[in-house]
Amino acid sequence: MEELKGKRIGFAMCGSFCTFSRCFDALGVLLDLGCEIIPIMSYNAYDTDTRFGNAADHRRKLEDMCGRQIIHTIPDAEPIGPKKMTDIMLVANCTGNTLAKLAASITDTPVTMAVKSHLRGNRPVLLNIATNDALAGAAKNIFSLINYKNYYFVPIKQDDHINKPFSLTGDFDKIPESVVRALSGTQIQPLLG
Ligand SMILES: Cc1cc2nc3c(=O)[nH]c(=O)nc-3n(C[C@H](O)[C@H](O)[C@H](O)COP(=O)(O)O)c2cc1C
Repeated sequence: MEELKGKRIGFAMCGSFCTFSRCFDALGVLLDLGCEIIPIMSYNAYDTDTRFGNAADHRRKLEDMCGRQIIHTIPDAEPIGPKKMTDIMLVANCTGNTLAKLAASITDTPVTMAVKSHLRGNRPVLLNIATNDALAGAAKNIFSLINYKNYYFVPIKQDDHINKPFSLTGDFDKIPESVVRALSGTQIQPLLG
């Protein structure tokens, strides 16, 4: 994927902690493809220790991989748009919480600020959702955002329809191709897989 070489990708991580390892795998692929990554974390992603790992370890790993400091405050995320820092903003594991805020234009976390600031420049936002209420309370937000200008989605699938019948997760393996498509202004298809 030559076209990704040198692309500046805002890589925003939210508090879907069980998907952190898949985020890091996808990040490694983007780096291997020659992308420049601007790492961003929500307050919860930046600060919360869970059974999926310690926040300090996650922060260190993200900074080591990207070779730069994480944007983790609203004031630090605000210049992203004005300074034209990003070609595309990828929310690598978008929670139901962040989805709801984006759908309502609420801007009270580093990730929602990063998206809003980036959108100022009429550039693409790519959401990779990970939420177990996607076919319940979050459904209206997903389908609202699908209709918003400049929003694109990584292909979505049911990750465990037996045990989590309302849960949907983006296909992390399709992130690079989704980035390419979104950068050219098209939604990767099929959206549901
Ligand atoms: C261990 C753990 C795992 C979680 N996994 C998810 C998840 O996969 N998807 C989701 O939408 N929320 C998940 N949450 C809840 C979010 O962390 C919570 O809604 C938080 O407010 C999200 O904030 P953010 O969107 O600003 O990162 C999880 C919480 C915990 C403690």
